[in-house]
Order: sequence, then C-alpha cells, then structure tokens
Amino acid sequence: MSGRLQGRTAFITGAGSGIGRAAAELFAAEGAAVAVADLRGDAAAETVEKITTAGGTAIALSVDISAADQVADAVERTVREFGGLQLLYNNAGVDSSGSVADTTEDDWDRCFAVNAKGTYLCSRAAIPHLRTAGGAIVNQASVAGLVGVPNFAAYCAAKGAVVSLTRSMAVDLSPQGIRVNAICPGTVFTPLMEPMLRARGGGDLDAGLAKTLLKYPIGRLGTPEEIAKVALFLCSDESSFMTGSIIAADGGMTAQ
Ligand SMILES: NC(=O)c1ccc[n+]([C@@H]2O[C@H](COP(=O)([O-])OP(=O)(O)OC[C@H]3O[C@@H](n4cnc5c(N)ncnc54)[C@H](O)[C@@H]3O)[C@@H](O)[C@H]2O)c1
Repeated sequence: MSGRLQGRTAFITGAGSGIGRAAAELFAAEGAAVAVADLRGDAAAETVEKITTAGGTAIALSVDISAADQVADAVERTVREFGGLQLLYNNAGVDSSGSVADTTEDDWDRCFAVNAKGTYLCSRAAIPHLRTAGGAIVNQASVAGLVGVPNFAAYCAAKGAVVSLTRSMAVDLSPQGIRVNAICPGTVFTPLMEPMLRARGGGDLDAGLAKTLLKYPIGRLGTPEEIAKVALFLCSDESSFMTGSIIAADGGMTAQ
C-alpha cells in the first residue's frame, strides 16, 4: 500500500459497478476511507466487502444521486462516519440511446437527472466539507462530451454539460482551494456499455465490439482500472497544479 490518499475520505458515486468500483478499490488500497455510494445498495455492499476483505475501510450508501435529500443525507453520514470529506468522484452515470429524432423525453430527462444534475447535487452537498479540507472533485464526463457519437444524443448532451460544469466549478472553487477536473473515458467494457455495443452490432455483441474498435487507434477498449488510475492521479497531490482540466483517457479516439 503506497498510501497516496492516506488520511483522506473519498465519496465515490456509482461505486457498485464498473469504473466506480475499480476506483473505490484503488482509492482504498491507497489509504482512503471510501464512501461507496450507489443506487443499488446491494452492489455498494459488494464493493465494501471487497475493500474490507483486502484490509481497507469503506461504508456502503444506498443513494439516488438525482435526489437532493438522499445526496445530502449520504454526504452527512460520510462526514459523521469518517470525520471529514476531502475527495468527491462524481462517477455515477446512465446512458441513453437514440438520435434526437427518437430519444424519448423520459430518456432525455433521466440522462440529465443522473449525469448532469447528480454531479451538481453531489458537488453542492460536498463543497462545504471540501472547502475546509482543500479537497478535490473529479467529474466523470466521456468522449461523448467532446465529439458526436452516433445515436447517443441525450448522453452526448449530458456529458457535454459535465465538461462545461467542470470548467465553471474550477473557476468558482479555486479561491476556496478546491480543484475540479474531468475525465473523458473512451469505451470501457462495463455493464453500462454492453447494450450500446450490442445495438451497434445489430444485436451481435462481437460485431458491435469489432465496429467500435475501428475508432480506437490503440486497438482495444479501456479497462475500469485504467480510468480509476486517472481518477487517483486527479485526486492526489501529484496533480496539485491541475484544475479545470478535461482529460481524455480514450486510446486515441478523440485524437483523430
Ligand atoms: N463504460 C464506458 O465505456 C464509459 C465511457 C465513458 C464514460 N463513462 C462514464 O463512466 C461512469 C461509470 O460508468 P460504468 O461504465 O462504470 O457504468 P456501470 O453501469 O458499470 O456503473 C454505473 C453505476 O452507477 C450506478 N448508478 C446509476 N444511476 C445512479 C443514480 N441515480 N444514483 C447513484 N448511482 C447510480 C449504477 O447502479 C452502477 O452501479 C458513468 O458516468 C459513465 O457515463 C463510461
């Protein structure tokens, strides 16, 4: 354990699966006490089990990040449990398929409620604590917030909002000693992306994967652990001069 986050508490949303779970395990291995927040309490508890089995410290929180009261309660419980809060990783997100012509209003609203509003609500609840601690926030955007991805209209728009919000928060929060950066991952094989990959292959997952790989100069998809390492860097003192940065971790997808 190298302890790059020793003595700090991290609140990680969507930490019951995929990238969020990988980050929760990595942050705990680096010495952080981790609040594992997820809509699915059972999934959050599984992540906590993995962390505590490995000798780390974590609590599971069942929370819908699009609900202000639930977010406020979860942040307060974290502070009560661990005595403070220094790091927020706004990772939870949902996808939404379709172009503007065939995206339903419900899908649009859900996509914005979780990806954009959830980021705002968790940040708002955490900021008073981060302010006293000189903390850091990492927002999970996406390559879809930087370029147009076919049939992903609501998701592209919501992740674009996260990119803009990151810059706005960095400007507002710098005087308070809080750094805010965003990660734009390329495609990582997680439960979130499987339906999109299947749809891209006309129902055939392998065909969808092959089509997707054509967009990736590096010749493969990313892993949750690779994105978690970027989040660790942005939460650690190693990135102390970085705020308002939008970091693509995408195997060269947006370099073309
Ligand atoms: N996987 C990719 O290819 C990829 C690429 C770019 C960006 N991202 C972003 O990375 C983040 C994590 O994605 P992932 O691939 O690990 O997904 P995932 O589906 O494996 O995990 C997302 C987690 O978020 C939780 N969640 C969903 N809605 C929530 C809510 N309202 N409140 C609290 N938790 C909620 C889910 O229960 C799930 O455990 C998302 O923001 C996603 O948009 C993923």
